[in-house]
Amino acid sequence: MIDGYGRTIDYIRISVTDRCNLRCVYCMPEQGIPPVSHQEILRFDEICRLAGIFGELGIRKIKLTGGEPLVRKNLPVLVKLLKETPGIEKVTLTTNGVLLAEQMRALADAGIDGINLSLDTLDPDIFAAITRRRELERVKEGFLAALHYPGIPLKINCVPMGPEEQKIEELAELARKYPVHVRFIEMMPVGLGKEFRGVSEAEILEQLRRRFGREETFRGRLGNGPAHYYAFSGFQGKIGFISAMTHKFCGECNRVRLTSRGFLKTCLQYETGTDLRELLRSPEIRQEDLRKAVEETIRNKPAEHRFGAETVEHREEKIMSQIGG
Ligand code: GTP
Ligand code: 5AD
Ligand code: SF4
Repeated sequence: MIDGYGRTIDYIRISVTDRCNLRCVYCMPEQGIPPVSHQEILRFDEICRLAGIFGELGIRKIKLTGGEPLVRKNLPVLVKLLKETPGIEKVTLTTNGVLLAEQMRALADAGIDGINLSLDTLDPDIFAAITRRRELERVKEGFLAALHYPGIPLKINCVPMGPEEQKIEELAELARKYPVHVRFIEMMPVGLGKEFRGVSEAEILEQLRRRFGREETFRGRLGNGPAHYYAFSGFQGKIGFISAMTHKFCGECNRVRLTSRGFLKTCLQYETGTDLRELLRSPEIRQEDLRKAVEETIRNKPAEHRFGAETVEHREEKIMSQIGG
């Protein structure tokens, strides 16, 4: 559907849990977050009912996020149900990879259309420092398991934080050695991200040029999201950037978010949106009323983020794992 600023909204990021088996410093505090009871989280049938409405309204692509989506029990079952929903063409997943090796086959059988793997470094000590867990080996196994399915596009997400030991060239190398795209994400001042310095696209590109030579702009589309891509000579995959800070992309924004508690959220930076769970669970709610609520919410999607502004009305105070990234 079209929002109030003429943008086509055809992509929804659905968070299925706010729990995670890692504790990335820019995303989750060491002690975790107060656990949410199962009652508060949308059930699969509730997610599917809403997905039916999203499909009717022209949303064609769903990204499953978390916390860590694979800690939600039976996630492949949800993937299959969503794939069977009229109007929904693509269902993809963004995961930290810890549980990917054991679930990749079930995800593939369920029809998953793409996997994004969050991986900030290949150095075991730096990985442990960033995620506060020693799980790099399992993530690498997840990466290799995903590579067994060449028909399912695989991308790596890295949030550079500055320290040299993160060795971003080594991550970029993955796109040379394997048919995967490697994306660098500018740290956004959301949740704990406010306390860290990110690295800009320009700085990363400069670093990569020194090692791999000049890039060429890639004009095709890869996926649903805000990344843009470059081709480096001799690479099988592309190098991408998600640069919300230095290359604002709000004008082309095509997405909204559904939190695990069923809140339809229209922009990463604001808390504005609608509590669909309350509506879903109110007795005798009609499909028509739900659809109207979703339409109305999307129509009121804000024009743009104002990261960096001193005062922002309705600023989102949740941390990233509660939003879904
Ligand atoms: P594909 O393009 O389909 O691969 O997915 P994606 O890039 O949309 O999804 P992914 O979950 O891998 O997200 C990568 C990064 O993009 C995360 O850091 C998200 O928070 C960020 N991102 C996604 N959508 C938005 C958005 O609307 N605004 C901002 N500022 N960042 C976003
Ligand atoms: N800024 C940018 N990206 C972030 N992510 C988590 N927090 C932030 C932040 N503050 C990324 C994760 C993951 C994706 C879903 O969001 O690293 O790849
Ligand atoms: Fe977990 Fe992803 Fe947040 Fe890391 S960034 S703590 S992997 S949800």
